[in-house]
Amino acid sequence: MSVLLTGAAGYVGSHTCVELLNRGFSIVGIDNYINSSPVALDRVRQITSKDFPSYELDLRDERALRAVFEAQPIEAVIHFAGLKAVGESVKKPLEYYDNNLYGSIVLLKVMREFAVRSIIFSSSATVYGAATQMPLREDMALGCVNPYGWTKFAIEQMLRDLCAADPGFSAVLLRYFNPVGAHESGLIGDDPSGIPNNLLPYVTRVAVEELQRLPVFGNDYNTPDGTPLRDYIHVSDLARGHVAAMEYAGAHKGCEAVNLGTGKASSVLEVIKTFEQVNGVPIPYFIAPRRAGDADESWSSTEKAERLLGWKAEKGLGEMLRDAWRWQKQNPKGYHA
Ligand code: WQD
Repeated sequence: MSVLLTGAAGYVGSHTCVELLNRGFSIVGIDNYINSSPVALDRVRQITSKDFPSYELDLRDERALRAVFEAQPIEAVIHFAGLKAVGESVKKPLEYYDNNLYGSIVLLKVMREFAVRSIIFSSSATVYGAATQMPLREDMALGCVNPYGWTKFAIEQMLRDLCAADPGFSAVLLRYFNPVGAHESGLIGDDPSGIPNNLLPYVTRVAVEELQRLPVFGNDYNTPDGTPLRDYIHVSDLARGHVAAMEYAGAHKGCEAVNLGTGKASSVLEVIKTFEQVNGVPIPYFIAPRRAGDADESWSSTEKAERLLGWKAEKGLGEMLRDAWRWQKQNPKGYHA
């Protein structure tokens, strides 16, 4: 039996492929490669010395998706596929609802047709919206502040409703905090197209001198050094959390939301300083105006993940930043050498 990963060639998806294969699982990957590269899947095969079937398809193509379920013995799904740029979602909300929401509806309908009733969903701490009480807990009220967040919220709600209607269904909603870093081999990593929206890929592209200086979006926040605090988590720790969630879903029915974070917060300036210290590479930066929608702070309660999944993050900020640099140094142009 196999685990189907949608968005398998993506940043978190490819790292989860590695963790699953190393744990002896059989996997099937699907991806439309609009924000990723098939090279990532070849690197997964190289890292694990294991092969697996992969298909290029868009989740909204119901016929193509059905053909994968007909060809492969799928018993569970880990659903990563989706557009994920907050700023872009504000400019193109319809594309985000069509891709993320409609794609998920097609996936769930085909899963029902083949009696696949276990899903791990790649959600996001963004569903906590403008919550200011830290650490963020899974039982807090939700509320989003951008279309990307609303798509994650809506898919979570669909899964809650599905589990209420079908007592045999299992869904674990994993709310990621800030995934950073890369597999220790440096063969897979974060490779956003164009100018990175997120902090770490921008830092590593400054480090390889592809970009000149890092804009620090504001230093007048209500934090110790004035720059926002975030819960950065190593992508390999995050991947292990998906394996733990899948094992939980295999033994339990119903719907559970679980944070995947470290419970520790670092500021933007701390990330810059730590990156320079552990890698010996200068990161020139300048203070730019605030970015709309950025919160002063966001970090995770880790209690439920430890209690329910028996999982906790193990890697510290230094290791995250060393691994992020190794990936970028070895792949200055990402997967598009
Ligand atoms: C982190 C900090 C910026 C870039 C987003 C999504 C969230 C999740 C993770 C998908 C902030 C600052 C950034 C730069 C900067 N993605 N920054 N200069 O905004 O916490 O979360 O990515 O699930 O849903 O909202 O992450 O990496 O964009 O920003 O100063 O060039 O770095 O202001 O304080 P964020 P980020």
